[in-house]
Amino acid sequence: MMSSQLVSIPTARTINYLRVSITDRCNLRCCYCMPEGGVPVMPHDEILSYEEMLRLIGVFVQGGIRKVRITGGEPLVRKDSVDLLGRLHQMPGLEEVTLTTNGVLLKEFAAQLKKSGVSRLNISLDSLKPERFARITRRDRFEDVVAGIHLAESLGFDPIKINVVMMRGVNDDEIGDFFRLAKERPYQIRFIEYMPVGAANSWDPAQFVSSKEIYETISQFGRLEPLEAGMLDGPARCYRVVEGAGQIGLISALSDHFCERCNRLRLTADGQLRTCLFSDAEVSLKAPLRQGGSDEELLDLIRLAIKNKPKGHGLQRVRPEACLRQMSRIGG
Ligand code: GTP
Ligand code: 5AD
Ligand code: SF4
Repeated sequence: MMSSQLVSIPTARTINYLRVSITDRCNLRCCYCMPEGGVPVMPHDEILSYEEMLRLIGVFVQGGIRKVRITGGEPLVRKDSVDLLGRLHQMPGLEEVTLTTNGVLLKEFAAQLKKSGVSRLNISLDSLKPERFARITRRDRFEDVVAGIHLAESLGFDPIKINVVMMRGVNDDEIGDFFRLAKERPYQIRFIEYMPVGAANSWDPAQFVSSKEIYETISQFGRLEPLEAGMLDGPARCYRVVEGAGQIGLISALSDHFCERCNRLRLTADGQLRTCLFSDAEVSLKAPLRQGGSDEELLDLIRLAIKNKPKGHGLQRVRPEACLRQMSRIGG
């Protein structure tokens, strides 16, 4: 369990946040997500068109969704993804439209993204050392990601959240460097516990670093002040860096499973509704959608899935094969 020093978060379980994976393709091969050779990609006709996604998201909004996060694979590799984000930004009833990206193509798309109305970005960056970044992601794109982050900052994206998956013996010696970055720049640096997701995941208990340990390490470098979580926020526990520009977030996916306050659903690129990251139970929305189902029929399916949403994932008894669908096909 987490120590009492860690900030507490409201426990209401209102389902208001939908994560939509728009592609399973990716331009990186992160070691915690994919095998070196990648994974077979879904055939094009299995993937929902943007029109189909917009129709479904409209139904989710009728069902209470107020925030959509677009994820992948890497969402910016799908053609016209920025247009989709712009159209979502205009969708009545949606209060937040956000993007999780690996940042490789940000330099190219940041200005268009800003114009489309998106201003909130989550960007993965697991190391501040170029060679290590290349080892973790198996691609030499560190400079592109860093340039993308700088451009996003100069264009006024706010918040900019940087996702760091912590792995012992891989990047756990960089906690201090990331903390200094949060002190100097207005970013929220989020340390994520390494999760056993996907059949090809190389999760190893020896590499696991808990949020509690990360918090204690950070405490040696500077002071943190707990921040309140908002109703549309994801699972991070957030802290202001005292006398600094940025924040720290801790995502305790395993050590303090946040199921009782989980506010999200997931829609995969092939139109499957998942109510829990760690459960392979899926409801096909693509089938009724493509068979001409009405909004009411789709809404009934969504409501039923919410009713059956698992109360918890039980990963304290961690199994390496916690869920079989590849992380790149879920979108985190
Ligand atoms: P915001 O609060 O809106 O910034 O969203 P977020 O933190 O949910 O989004 P992001 O895509 O940046 O995800 C950060 C990390 O949290 C990723 O490693 C996700 O896999 C993880 N995560 C997001 N939702 C869940 C969840 O329901 N369960 C678990 N265990 N992890 C999650
Ligand atoms: N454990 C923890 N986080 C993961 N992500 C991908 N795979 C894992 C994993 N096995 C993170 C990525 C990205 C976010 C969407 O999910 O780093 O920031
Ligand atoms: Fe791509 Fe994200 Fe998987 Fe890395 S974690 S390989 S960026 S989908």
